[in-house]
Amino acid sequence: MSAGYKDRKYLCIVSDILEHPEFLKLKDIPHHGMDRYDHSLRVSYYSYRIAKMLHLDYEETARGALLHDFFFEENENIDKKERAEILVNHPKFALENANKYFTLSEKEQDMILTHMFPVAPMVPKYLESWIVDLVDDIVSVYEKGFSLRRELSAAMSFLLVISMNALR
Ligand SMILES: [Fe+2]
Ligand SMILES: [Fe+2]
Repeated sequence: MSAGYKDRKYLCIVSDILEHPEFLKLKDIPHHGMDRYDHSLRVSYYSYRIAKMLHLDYEETARGALLHDFFFEENENIDKKERAEILVNHPKFALENANKYFTLSEKEQDMILTHMFPVAPMVPKYLESWIVDLVDDIVSVYEKGFSLRRELSAAMSFLLVISMNALR
């Protein structure tokens, strides 16, 4: 669970997005071994904290970052070619969805569209967009590592049970 769930000031800024029925659908989409809703919340909250610390536009950062992966295509358990296409194109899908359901500033749109730089060629125009790009990378590494550790631990537990049964 992201720390963002407990920060009331942060929640005031993003609650309309977090409670929106379309955005809630992200809870059902796997992402880095977790779900896309929690991933988006994590990226948004840490980007917000950094932007606030640096006296930047933290409200826009919180909202833009929260919508950075607002797309519904699955990017896990699909073939390599399809995965590569989604990797590059999903910022455009996310921006399209975000504009459909919310009113976004130019800066928020830039955060969504450029968050995959340098994998996708759109270069961030604002410092806030660079923060979202960087935080997304760090959070992704953390989530993939966490999910790998969880799988390893489940495999170890399974092996332990098997070997204990064999020794009986
Ligand atoms: Fe993304
Ligand atoms: Fe992301």
